[in-house]
Amino acid sequence: MWNEQGRADVLNRARYFFSIVILGLCLAANPCRGQQAPPQSSRAAHAHQQAQDPWWKHAVIYEIYPRSFQDSNGDGVGDINGIASRLDYLRDLGIDAIWISPMYPSPLVDFGYDISDYTAIDPLYGTLADFDRMVSEAKKRNIRVIMDFVPNHTSDQHPWFKESRSSRTNPKRDWYIWRDGKGEGQPPNNWQSWFGHSAWKFDPTTNQYYYHHFYTEQPDLNWRNPQVRKAMYDAMRFWLDRGVAGFRIDAVSRLFEDPNLHDDPILPGKNAYGDPNIAHKYTDNLPEVHEVLREMRKVANEYPGNPVLISEADEPNISELTKMYGAKDDEVQLPMDFQIADVNKLSAPDFRRLLNEIDHNAAGGQPHYFFSNHDQPRQWDRYGDGAHNDQIAKLTAALLLTTRATPLMYYGEEIGMRTTEPARKEDVQDPIGKIGWPEEKGRDGERTPMQWDASTNAGFSTAQGPWLPLPPSAAAYNVAAESKDPNSVLSFYKRLLALRRSEPALRDGLYLPLNQEHPHVLAFLRKKPGSSDAILVVLNMSAEAQTVKFDLSAEGVKESSAKPLIAAPEIGPESTQVAHFTVPAFGVFIGSVH
Ligand code: GLC
Repeated sequence: MWNEQGRADVLNRARYFFSIVILGLCLAANPCRGQQAPPQSSRAAHAHQQAQDPWWKHAVIYEIYPRSFQDSNGDGVGDINGIASRLDYLRDLGIDAIWISPMYPSPLVDFGYDISDYTAIDPLYGTLADFDRMVSEAKKRNIRVIMDFVPNHTSDQHPWFKESRSSRTNPKRDWYIWRDGKGEGQPPNNWQSWFGHSAWKFDPTTNQYYYHHFYTEQPDLNWRNPQVRKAMYDAMRFWLDRGVAGFRIDAVSRLFEDPNLHDDPILPGKNAYGDPNIAHKYTDNLPEVHEVLREMRKVANEYPGNPVLISEADEPNISELTKMYGAKDDEVQLPMDFQIADVNKLSAPDFRRLLNEIDHNAAGGQPHYFFSNHDQPRQWDRYGDGAHNDQIAKLTAALLLTTRATPLMYYGEEIGMRTTEPARKEDVQDPIGKIGWPEEKGRDGERTPMQWDASTNAGFSTAQGPWLPLPPSAAAYNVAAESKDPNSVLSFYKRLLALRRSEPALRDGLYLPLNQEHPHVLAFLRKKPGSSDAILVVLNMSAEAQTVKFDLSAEGVKESSAKPLIAAPEIGPESTQVAHFTVPAFGVFIGSVH
């Protein structure tokens, strides 16, 4: 049961009420032409049903890194018109919503995660009119658009920060975190930036330090200031008014810091930046975060259509992750599950344990899984063993797209794009890679341009040199080539996405784990309560063929054979005896049982 108290429901309740009143008046006045009433009340019923079964529970969401998806004007950087030109591709792939990483005006120190205006589009990506056109074109294809929202920090070039740093008495001074140093040249405490070194930057204009959880050019906003909250919620409304379907909320657990500035505990060893390891005890996951998430949810609920909030939630465990749903389903609907994304090896027991834990989360929230994103090396190499990478890419695709979770894909994973790190420090674009080279090479590797075809720059751009180079693998791994090959990673994704849409058990069914002691095979049923039809998913996470046996009678399945729907490697259409069958190395079997 989802708490939907938004404007939509209020409107629908009002409409319903008026339709009853009008129907009553009409009946009293006879002759009755009150045929309007049933559609009105069925609309109310429809709205009610939508609230119980919101779109984001069944959607497949696809992250686009806008710099790298499609360049429409030949400047080497992707843009909004480029995205719009590829909407047919996304529709045909089977995508329901796109989350686009930030496109707001930005000095691009953190490639858009340093925002200097929350209610505009950076000219590099296009105009607001381009944006509106893209949203309406996406809508025609039943694709929703989700914006990235970055509440923790602004750019140091944001007018708010420029004002704030201008004097200690400026009205915007308290919009950021300013403190005196401990002494000459000494920051207020030992807090460290996530991107290396002290989290405090001395500002000579006013002789104080400001706090930045990320780069020095990303000063943290002071979320204890009600004016900051109001300004940020108004920014959300600006985009919701333009028809966006929700937000992915960036770095949300970092919104608050301990006002008493306690030092963080030091841990043994050093990190990639050469700093002592530290537990971010006083700058991460403070309880006030949840207060803000509840307020953001209220803003989302002011709008019809069930806008979704997705949180970047790299929480230490499932119970912390679960808190993000809110005690009364009143925070975010989809906290991204970094536990699953961080398994980093093909381990049936590890995945099984985490899938079970989140499936039974105390909040009853909808799980939200992903493997790759713009901060995370791509799954093709991360899970690949060097010999079976394409087969393993199909295996991780099957895992992502067959559980009960709302899946989140990252552009290019559907064609098996690989992580391509820069070879030389001088080629690095991401500042983390510049600070941390060679141990930390930055995130350029997972942000290379989308590979569309075998033409120059893989069809991404006509520029001499796109902002990041195309890897040599683009010659074989691209949309055009893979569309022609029924065995390609892309063809496998397409079939899986279509199956997820057409099979009610995959769409709505329960997740029922099977053979829970098996060390290499992750297997489960998806089954609608009360129905004897189910989908059996068997994933061999090892390099050896595995023989498995299932007794599905306890799950209400009578027949002892499964009809293959999708398998990799391909198998014939003959039914397989569930009591005894062999799954090849890294094999995927998805079949229907009754
Ligand atoms: C999030 C973003 C990442 C960015 C950081 C700071 O983790 O995903 O790309 O660098 O926040 O905004």
